[in-house]
Amino acid sequence: MRGGERISGETVIGAAKNAVLPMMAAAILADTPSTFVHCPRIVDVESMRGILRCLGVESRWRDDSLVIDGSRIISGEMPEKLSKRVRSSIFLLGPILGRLRKAAVVYPGGCEIGLRPIDLHLNGLKRMGVEIREAGGVLHCDGSRMHAADIHLDYPSVGATENVMMAAVLTPGRTTISNAAREPEIENLQAYINAMGGSVQGAGSATVVIDGVSKVRGVSFSPMFDRIAAGTYLCAAAITGGEITLRGAEPRHLTAVTQKLREMGCRIEETPDSVSLRAPARLRAFDTLQTQPHPGFPTDMQSQMMALASVARGSSVIVENVFENRFALAGDLNCMGANIRVAGRAALVQGVERLNGIHARARDLRGGAALVLAALAAEGETVISDVHLIDRGYAKMEDTLSRLGADIRRVSLTD
Ligand code: UD1
Repeated sequence: MRGGERISGETVIGAAKNAVLPMMAAAILADTPSTFVHCPRIVDVESMRGILRCLGVESRWRDDSLVIDGSRIISGEMPEKLSKRVRSSIFLLGPILGRLRKAAVVYPGGCEIGLRPIDLHLNGLKRMGVEIREAGGVLHCDGSRMHAADIHLDYPSVGATENVMMAAVLTPGRTTISNAAREPEIENLQAYINAMGGSVQGAGSATVVIDGVSKVRGVSFSPMFDRIAAGTYLCAAAITGGEITLRGAEPRHLTAVTQKLREMGCRIEETPDSVSLRAPARLRAFDTLQTQPHPGFPTDMQSQMMALASVARGSSVIVENVFENRFALAGDLNCMGANIRVAGRAALVQGVERLNGIHARARDLRGGAALVLAALAAEGETVISDVHLIDRGYAKMEDTLSRLGADIRRVSLTD
């Protein structure tokens, strides 16, 4: 790609990866099919389909809707290779136990952005009476004596909240999760489960209450928009001095990000289902950005903001409190001419006038997207490899950006 083109125009924001993936897991609670409308065609969704297939759960695309049929689920043993590739595979543990009362999983994979332990998931399930035995890296889970429980999470983990919530849907009695994560995708999962006939209350707050029901049935559901993709495209306009309107994006889920972009000098306009941004010729540094669980600043937008700060006027401080390895990007940005110093969980970004194009490798999903943003503003050509990591969460990002005016194309390594 070649930097220097202004991003300008409109784009429609699709459904959120982080809403769809747990819903694909929850779909197996029902023995009738669910349809996810406007489901994003991203690699993580395909990987999840692959895992479901190994369990006997068929899924198929119908235009841009994904149909998942849990009626013939035969196995609770998750395939090792695919599960290691997608961290979200751990979400399946709760629903498999809910449905079959027996599961086996390997430690999950995902982005290389930190230790990503699963202790909170396992402790929650143990509190519900699941017996877990480890043998050769595989966790054998016996849920034959599962029961409702009061579960306090030591940390508001998104995945652990969702996993326990899904495990409790078909477990008799009232399960309560306190110190639950409050991300909007969890509220959206609650809406899907309740549409299926489940009984979940409180998602979006720190206490989630699940009353077990005996059966749920598949439904058609339209998952919420992707607030991280939305934030990324706002940043694309911001870093190029451009302007953009996002359709299908609810402003209330973007306030942490739009507030920072305002601090950087961008003008933001909002309607109930759209957000528009107009960027200044040069961005201003923000003071401090600290990632936090929702409603704090989302860690999934931290890398993109680092790219913006690297060309802003003045110095910005970024503190990453959620994942410990999310600063690898700083080294790549410095190779492009940025001035970023990292000390532990903090980074000091001194804005430079311009970046230069380089050959770089996407290291993780959001870091890869941030490299694309930096390249949009850089002088000359940037070549980014390992873009399959970007494909995990963005459906054909290069098409979206080139429609908005960027000079970007996908080439195969032999081109
Ligand atoms: C989800 C999102 C991911 C986002 C993250 C934080 C999905 C599919 N992924 O990931 O995009 O970056 O929320 O907003 O929704 N932790 C533990 N023990 C556990 C679980 C987590 O220590 O058992 C720690 C993690 O290492 C991390 C922190 O808790 O430091 C947050 O993790 P968590 O909220 O669980 O994130 P995910 O659900 O993996």
